[in-house]
Amino acid sequence: MTILRTKQAVKSALQILRTSQKTIGFVPTMGALHKGHLSLVENAKLSSEVVIVSIFVNPTQFNNKEDFENYPITIEEDLKLLEEKGVDFIFLPNLEEMYPAETLLKMDFGDLDKTLEGAFRPGHFSGVGVVVSKLLNIVKPDKSYFGQKDLQQVAIIKRLVVDLCFDVEIIVIPTIREQDGLAMSSRNVRLNPDERLTATILYKCLVFAKDELLDGGDWFEIREKVTKRFHDEPQARLEYFELVHTDTLEKLKEIKGQKKVSICTAAYIGEVRLIDNLSIV
Ligand code: PAJ
Repeated sequence: MTILRTKQAVKSALQILRTSQKTIGFVPTMGALHKGHLSLVENAKLSSEVVIVSIFVNPTQFNNKEDFENYPITIEEDLKLLEEKGVDFIFLPNLEEMYPAETLLKMDFGDLDKTLEGAFRPGHFSGVGVVVSKLLNIVKPDKSYFGQKDLQQVAIIKRLVVDLCFDVEIIVIPTIREQDGLAMSSRNVRLNPDERLTATILYKCLVFAKDELLDGGDWFEIREKVTKRFHDEPQARLEYFELVHTDTLEKLKEIKGQKKVSICTAAYIGEVRLIDNLSIV
């Protein structure tokens, strides 16, 4: 496994592989790796001949300075895990390398970034769009792998790739969960043991709502019950619980006549903000 720290090093390392027609699979991450990230890597290993993983905690996508400063960094462990998975290259740039100048570019994804996470984290998806564009331009992969866990990120990146003609296939990998259903996240380590137990409320409510919807329940009544359940849990504070079209993210009132529907949620458990989603049809 080779660690590449500069754009030039990535270019030199991948050039020869590209000319010999090897498929290059790319997994962008912010590190603090867990089984969710590793599932992306495993999938990349299965469907690409060369796998490159980037680790870069991107400051422009954090709308909250504290969240950025508290973001866990576990680089030694990350490298060990990636080596065990047989990753070929790690792109590990520093801030200067990724942002030689403070970026002036702002990205606007229309309706896609005004809703759900975008409504609570102004500027977040502009930062994601900018850094993913930079990374795709540097690595120029054939395939890039993203987790369904960040459903809105997936919808936005799919549009970014179409709008800017990036020559890459976006592959979406299902959410990996803990045994009790909590979606794996780098933020979970910040939950104390009590909060960790409470955190299962997100997945439990998603499953409850999905079952009720498929049984013909009314969405607004279901959401009312979910809201009450969160209200009764002192450590939890619900931000949103929405039924949406999986690609357009348009808010829905029912699943009738729809082909791709998901429920998306975000909630604070103590001081930690968690997101999750579940596809319904
Ligand atoms: P990060 O949060 O590190 O996530 C990297 C990738 O892992 C994303 O595609 C994310 O959806 C996926 N992932 C996270 N938890 C997962 C889980 N439990 N199951 C499956 N996949 C999971 O997302 C980012 O970084 C950044 O926004 C990035 C795209 C790297 C741009 O900075």
